[in-house]
Amino acid sequence: MEIKLAKGTHDILYDEAREFSEIEIIMRAVSETFGYEEIRTPIIEHSELFTRTVGESSDIVRKEMYEFLDKGNRLITLRPEFTASIVRSFVNNKLYATKDLPVKLYYCGPVFRYDRPQAGRYRQFNQFGVELIGASSYFHDLEVMMLGYNILLALGLDNVEIRINTIGDEETRKNYVNALKEYFAPFIDTMCGDCKERLKLNPLRILDCKVEHDKEIVKKAPKIKDYLSKNAKEQFDSILEMLDEYEIKYVIDDELVRGLDYYSNVVFEYHVANNKGKSLGAIGGGGHYANLVEELGGPKLECCGLSFGLERVINIRKEAPEHKDIIKETDFYVMPLGKENFYNAYIVATALRSGCFITEICLEDKSLSAMFKRAERANAKFAVIIGDDEVNKDIVIMKNLLTKEQFEIKLDELMSKADELIDGCIEEHTHHEEHDYEKN
Ligand code: HAM
Repeated sequence: MEIKLAKGTHDILYDEAREFSEIEIIMRAVSETFGYEEIRTPIIEHSELFTRTVGESSDIVRKEMYEFLDKGNRLITLRPEFTASIVRSFVNNKLYATKDLPVKLYYCGPVFRYDRPQAGRYRQFNQFGVELIGASSYFHDLEVMMLGYNILLALGLDNVEIRINTIGDEETRKNYVNALKEYFAPFIDTMCGDCKERLKLNPLRILDCKVEHDKEIVKKAPKIKDYLSKNAKEQFDSILEMLDEYEIKYVIDDELVRGLDYYSNVVFEYHVANNKGKSLGAIGGGGHYANLVEELGGPKLECCGLSFGLERVINIRKEAPEHKDIIKETDFYVMPLGKENFYNAYIVATALRSGCFITEICLEDKSLSAMFKRAERANAKFAVIIGDDEVNKDIVIMKNLLTKEQFEIKLDELMSKADELIDGCIEEHTHHEEHDYEKN
C-alpha cells in the first residue's frame, strides 16, 4: 500500500529544490556581506528550552510543539524556531568570552510546528534567519532590519512592506499589560477559550487572536504607543528616523506584538502581497530581545534577529512576472551506441566529470533517437556519441545540440576542448536569447 506524506509536510522536488538552493545561496551571500557567519544547531532540543523562551503563553508552546519522551525519558522537542537554540549554543559554547561582540550568526533549516495546515502554512517548513547577540544600540536593530530588507531586494522582491511596532521595555509592558487586563475583563466571558487562558498567562497574546468576534473587541483595546516609557519611545523614534533617512518604506502597525514571548522594544515583519493583492501572511519577522541570553545562563546581553519562512518566500517569488523556473542544466550527454560501448563511454563521462562538467551518461541501452530525447529533456549542451568506429579511431562525435553542428574530437584532446566548447556554447545561448528578446 502506498504511504502518503505526513499532514502539513511537503516534498521539495526538481525545480523547487533548485529554487530553495538558489534562495539559500542568496540569503547566505547577503548575510555574509553584513559580516554574519553560519551556525548549525541540532533539530532536537530539551523542551524546556522553548517553554522558557518562546513562552508558555505562546501558541507555539501551548499547541504546536512536536514533543516526545525519548528512550531515556527526556522530554524532547523538534525545534519550532531557531532563536532559542542559537542563544543556547552561544551560552553553552561561551562565545561571549571568546568572540568579539556582537556575535553575528545566520542559520538555515527545517522547523516544526503542529499548526493547522493551509496555504503558506506547514507543519514542517524551512527558515533562514540571523541573530545578532550583544546589541549595544538601536543601530544594531536597524542593521538587522536592513539586512532582511536587502535579502528580499536581492531575491527580486522589491514591493516589500515592513510592518513595525515597539512593544516597549519592561516598564512599558508592565503598565500596558495592566491596562489590557482591565480592558478585557468585562468582555472575557464572551471571548474564546484561548483568550481566557491568554488573559491569565499573557494578555498581549490576545492581540493576536484570529477569532472574528474577539478581533472586534481587540480593535478598541488600549494601544501600546500610549504606554511607552520615555526610553522606549526615544529608541523607536530613532529607528523610524533612520528608516526614513534610508528611504525604506514602513508601516507602523499598532497591533503587531509577534507570537513569541521573548521580544522587547522594536518588532517587525516583512509582508509581500501575492499577484492577486492578497497577503499570505508575513514572509519574515523578528525583533529585539533583551533577556534571553541571561535567562539561559549567560551574561546580560541584548539581541536582535529575524527569520524568513522559505516556503512563503518561494511562493511569492514564483508569482513575479519575470520569474523563470531554474531548469536542470547538463553540459555533456554521453551516448554509448550499444552495451559493448558502455565501458569506453563511462571512461569519457568520468573524465568530463573530473573536469567539473555536468555530465550525464545513458547506461540504459537506448536507441540513438531515444538518447537524443533524453539529452533534450536534460537540457544538454552537447551530445557525446561513442560507437564501435569511434572507439577504434580513439575519437568521440560531438554534437552541439543548439546549432546541430557535429564534429569529431580526438580523445586526447577532449578535456582541453571541453572548456572552449562550453564557453562558446554559453555565448551562443546568450546571443540566441538576445535575438529572441529583440524579436519580441
Ligand atoms: P516567526 O514569525 O514565528 O518568527 O517565524 C518566522 C517566519 O516563518 C514567518 O514570518 C513565516 O514566514 C514563517 N512561518 C511561520 N510559521 C509557518 C508555517 N506554519 N508554515 C510556513 N511558514 C511559516 C520566528 O520564528 C522567530 N524565531 C524570528 C526571530 C529571529 N526573532 C528573533 N530572531
